[in-house]
Amino acid sequence: MKKEELCRRAREIRENSYSPYSGFRVGAALLTKSGKVYSGVNIENASFSPTICAERSAFAAAISAGEREFEAIAVCGGENAFPPCGVCRQVMSEFCGPDFKVFVLSENDCREYTLGELLPEAFGKENMRG
Ligand code: THU
Repeated sequence: MKKEELCRRAREIRENSYSPYSGFRVGAALLTKSGKVYSGVNIENASFSPTICAERSAFAAAISAGEREFEAIAVCGGENAFPPCGVCRQVMSEFCGPDFKVFVLSENDCREYTLGELLPEAFGKENMRG
């Protein structure tokens, strides 16, 4: 799948964001290595801490469907691009290696990162051995 198509899916799903408290709408589209796409939005809550980011919503959908191997994620937060929060980076690192691509979208732009750039020296399962 082309990067442009994944980015389009992230922009499209953003419309479904449930963000009445921040008004900050975010959409994410996650591409598996087999070429499927799972989408997610941020889902807020009156008790703020249960809020889930769009990226983790997309991972929850994909993992629940049995997926375990991922290629890239596109994240769209509207006019201004922002890279995923630290919690989402940590969740990505549970399932994705340093080459996993992260496309960060704004209105007219798409910045491309790798997970290795966004989360160097990640804590992972290998750190719990020995
Ligand atoms: N948010 C995301 O969906 N992804 C991020 O990486 C950063 C923040 C959401 C959570 C909350 O609903 C709103 O943006 C403001 O923090």
